[in-house]
Amino acid sequence: NRMTRLRRNLSRWYAANGRELPWRATHDPYRIWISEIMLQQTTVAAVIPYFDRFLKQFPTVDVLAAADENDVLRMWEGLGYYSRARNIHTTARQLVAERDGTFPEDADELQRLPGIGRYTAGAIASFAFDRRAPIVEANTLRLYSRLLGYQGDPRSSAGQKLLWRFAEEVLPRKQPGRFNQALMELGSTVCTPTAPDCPKCPLRTVCRAFAENLQSEIPRPKPR
Ligand code: ADE
Repeated sequence: NRMTRLRRNLSRWYAANGRELPWRATHDPYRIWISEIMLQQTTVAAVIPYFDRFLKQFPTVDVLAAADENDVLRMWEGLGYYSRARNIHTTARQLVAERDGTFPEDADELQRLPGIGRYTAGAIASFAFDRRAPIVEANTLRLYSRLLGYQGDPRSSAGQKLLWRFAEEVLPRKQPGRFNQALMELGSTVCTPTAPDCPKCPLRTVCRAFAENLQSEIPRPKPR
């Protein structure tokens, strides 16, 4: 059926086309958390050098918790949105004080930490702990909207409900974390906002937007 074909095609495509990124070669929740916070408002290319420097200076949650906040902010200089750095530091101290520096494995629990929203919680739970936790962020929002041929506003509460449900149902039981990475990779490299490369897409045979030639209409743009 459609879901089986989608999973098989995406998985094969990712094996051949997934980039090796510094935070993909690990299941360390600390590294995954730092990378996802950095990637929230910053591109992959800009994040890589910051990520490497940050991990060199603060290799573990304990080292980060013990650090002076000014040193953390200094490492962040140039990335912008400094509340992210303050939240990271606060959260590291909380994890050390309350959980001996360990991370919750459950997305709902992760979401209670400062600066960790529904997406980041799903990313940590799935990438680090291989939980079957859904993710919806900019890249996957666009991809799922097109796969479903969803012509409503994907940011509305009805749209969000539909997309989060799809994000959950699409996940395989085996390696859901890798599958989430693959969904994000396809969204960021092939299913791009303008001029998506549909001829190269492993999911074009199961994509409603492609079938109806609605790629440029979906997702419906933000009202402004
Ligand atoms: N953007 C947000 N998270 C990402 C990730 N894990 N890999 C690539 N791009 C991303």
